[in-house]
Amino acid sequence: MVISVILGAQANAENPHLYLSLFLSLAAAGSEVGVYRGAGLAGRRGGGAVTGERGEMSRFVDKLPFFDRRSSPMEEAEDIPRNGLLHMHHQPHQHHHSGLLMQPQPSPPVKQQQSFTLAQLLKRVNEARSDASSPTSSPTHSHYTIELGGSVPGSTGSDLSEHMHGGGRGGDGPLLPFVLKFTDLTYSVKQRKKGSCLPALPFRRGGGEPAEPEAPRMKTLLDNISGEAREGEIMAVLGASGSGKSTLIDALANRIVKESLHGSVTLNGESLDSNLLKVISAYVMQDDLLYPMLTVEETLMFAAEFRLPRSLPTKEKKKRVQALIDQLGLRNAAGTIIGDEGHRGVSGGERRRVSIGVDIIHDPIVLFLDEPTSGLDSTSAFMVVKVLQRIAQSGSVVVMSIHQPSYRILGLLDRLLFLSRGQTVYYGPPGALPSFFDDFGKPIPGNENPTEFALDLIRELETMPDGARDLVEHNRKWQMRMAPKAKHHDGRGEKPSLSLKEAISASISRGKLVSGATDGSVSVHSGEPLPAAAVSKFANPFWIEMGVLTRRAFINTKRTPEIFIIRLAAVLVTGFILATIFWRLDDSPKGVQERLGFFAIAMSTMFYTCSDALPVFLNERYIFLRETAYNAYRRSSYVLSHTIVGFPSLIVLSLAFALTTFFAVGLAGGAEGFFFFVAIVLASFWAGSGFATFLSGVVTNVMLGYPVVVSTLAYFLLFSGFFINRDRIPRYWIWFHYLSLVKYPYEAVMQNEFSDPGRCFVRGVQMFDNTPLAALPGVLKVRVLRAMSQSLGVDIGTATCITTGPDFLAQQAVTDLTKWDCLWITVAWGFLFRILFYISLLLGSRNKRR
Ligand SMILES: Nc1ncnc2c1ncn2[C@@H]1O[C@H](COP(=O)(O)OP(=O)(O)OP(=O)(O)O)[C@@H](O)[C@H]1O
Ligand SMILES: [Mg+2]
Repeated sequence: MVISVILGAQANAENPHLYLSLFLSLAAAGSEVGVYRGAGLAGRRGGGAVTGERGEMSRFVDKLPFFDRRSSPMEEAEDIPRNGLLHMHHQPHQHHHSGLLMQPQPSPPVKQQQSFTLAQLLKRVNEARSDASSPTSSPTHSHYTIELGGSVPGSTGSDLSEHMHGGGRGGDGPLLPFVLKFTDLTYSVKQRKKGSCLPALPFRRGGGEPAEPEAPRMKTLLDNISGEAREGEIMAVLGASGSGKSTLIDALANRIVKESLHGSVTLNGESLDSNLLKVISAYVMQDDLLYPMLTVEETLMFAAEFRLPRSLPTKEKKKRVQALIDQLGLRNAAGTIIGDEGHRGVSGGERRRVSIGVDIIHDPIVLFLDEPTSGLDSTSAFMVVKVLQRIAQSGSVVVMSIHQPSYRILGLLDRLLFLSRGQTVYYGPPGALPSFFDDFGKPIPGNENPTEFALDLIRELETMPDGARDLVEHNRKWQMRMAPKAKHHDGRGEKPSLSLKEAISASISRGKLVSGATDGSVSVHSGEPLPAAAVSKFANPFWIEMGVLTRRAFINTKRTPEIFIIRLAAVLVTGFILATIFWRLDDSPKGVQERLGFFAIAMSTMFYTCSDALPVFLNERYIFLRETAYNAYRRSSYVLSHTIVGFPSLIVLSLAFALTTFFAVGLAGGAEGFFFFVAIVLASFWAGSGFATFLSGVVTNVMLGYPVVVSTLAYFLLFSGFFINRDRIPRYWIWFHYLSLVKYPYEAVMQNEFSDPGRCFVRGVQMFDNTPLAALPGVLKVRVLRAMSQSLGVDIGTATCITTGPDFLAQQAVTDLTKWDCLWITVAWGFLFRILFYISLLLGSRNKRR
């Protein structure tokens, strides 16, 4: 095997960026390696420069079956200089569509079918590059070349927008076509019938006839839909409401589980692995799910940090964001917050564009949009579609659904697919609509918007008993008639000219910022080794995600201080009320009872004030779902950053509560007692907010969440040991006592207060307090005491201590754990709930339809 690498860099007059071209050639046998340095792209176009240090270069350039494009739609353009684009080299004897990237030319046919992942491909490039340092090279046999030409992926900003504006069909070079093809997509769902949750019991039917199990009625949402969307074009799915547009987009975007969806979706002939699709595609939802308190620029910058690889320097990410702001026409709104009902922010159209921007930050190869223009006025809608056209022309496949395109928008669409009740009623270019409807016998009046006419006609047909069946049939025939013609006209063959991996790597080399995958190319540039798995599931490692998420959550929290202020006020008010009610409690039997009350209410307050953690996640839930749908970050980093951002406020709240109550109530323990009190209050906040957070992961609705939180906390208090001591709880409920989150902090503060054996709470005649004898005059009480003392033979004076702190703890059955045990158990609850929250996110955030 021979691996030859050319590393070349040259400034080009048209494109001021450095071009890095890397030739990798592999031959069938042997293992020698050769390096060629100094050849720039422009020079190589002439064919001579490649010979730089070795004469054989032109020889193996000629033997590059992988780059053979004579049969491709771009064939005619073969001789147009294509700066920075993948160069194709003709090899006359080679079969072209065999996915033969990296295959040794004379290898047996079995090997020719071998398919490489993008990661493997980039790894090979790297291996070749690192092997290149070996001096023992002598290129022999035949070679294959991967040329990662064009702008280095690091140089995104301006040259990317150059692609976007200047590139395209009529631009400075042909694009490498991606073709998203879908064939016979059929999707049905079981229809739930009224009362279907009740089993079909025999006696529900009359006449004693045997009850047959009813076959579930199926509703077909998509019925044999076929078509294709191409790079550089916008394919629009049209149809009345409920016709299946969103369903089709979901099917194409791999958002329906495989088992339910029949038919195939392929990109350049290959069905898509879901991780790869997540990396190279984007799905823009109909709703704008954005953090309201971030500005447009910050929102896009955070998206860049999530989706662009770590190896891309921050400066490049900023450049990319700036380019995108210009591209989306958001320059004037860049510094404005997104806003929500409570805060005035950007306009609806701008927000829509920001939403799109967030999803296209990594410059996806395939872009799906569900009604990107809904709710916008016609000018804003036009601007959005115009942006989409530019994206398409920068080398992407764009598929979108749209309700009613205006005349001007229609002019930007390349392919239309009309649906009626899940069936195709028209598939083709907008220009062919008039002849299609002429043929159908319903010519479009000259002054009418053809799509409006079509949609009205379809709607009218749908009211008939047969529905749009005639039109569906007409379309089928029309397609058959048009199919050969279309092929002839556009000169494109059945298959795209490049295999998926080739096309993706070429796309990356042209400057596409496919997340994760660009890692490799950037390393090529900087001379670091390539990661083995270039298409990693996530663009960034865990700690980077953590950092970015924490920063974002922190900014968002900082800009909504009212949430924290309200919480602090709640804690302070509660603390103030408790402090004034339980002001300076004495060490009498009454004082002891009041302490118990104070502890019980104080510790459960900690939990109640934590219920505000509930809406925090519920509000973010959809943003979270959207972001994790495309693997923007790990769920674990979300949970952790969520925890980190929330923690400082818990410290402030605990201090505030402890300071307002500890000294005012006159609790024991001095400085040590105070700090333990702070610690246990903090632990309670920690466990309580963990509990509320966990519930917010399980319960999806605030209205449901609050009753659950409030009632569970009431049960916790009931079983805490305050209302009924542990030794008096019936055996069958004792498990709940140990589950009660309030038990542990309650017992901890009790022990903190009463563990001193030197403190006396009941002395002499005080033992008659809380009994009917309490009403006796003091003198009588002393007499009774003396009588008791004499008859018992124990000396009990008025100053004799009857009950010390530890005695009291034993009475209350608060002896099974030490205060430190209680503290650690409370802390552990907090951790446990956060782990459960994480698990609920893992299980609960399915993004696919069934
Ligand atoms: N789980 C389901 N069970 C039964 N019917 C369903 C289910 N999901 C979707 N549908 C139906 O499928 C049809 C297509 O829905 P879809 O959301 O794709 O329509 P749409 O064309 O996007 O409509 P709109 O323009 O209003 O967004 C609708 O009639 C809808 O009621
Ligand atoms: Mg829809």
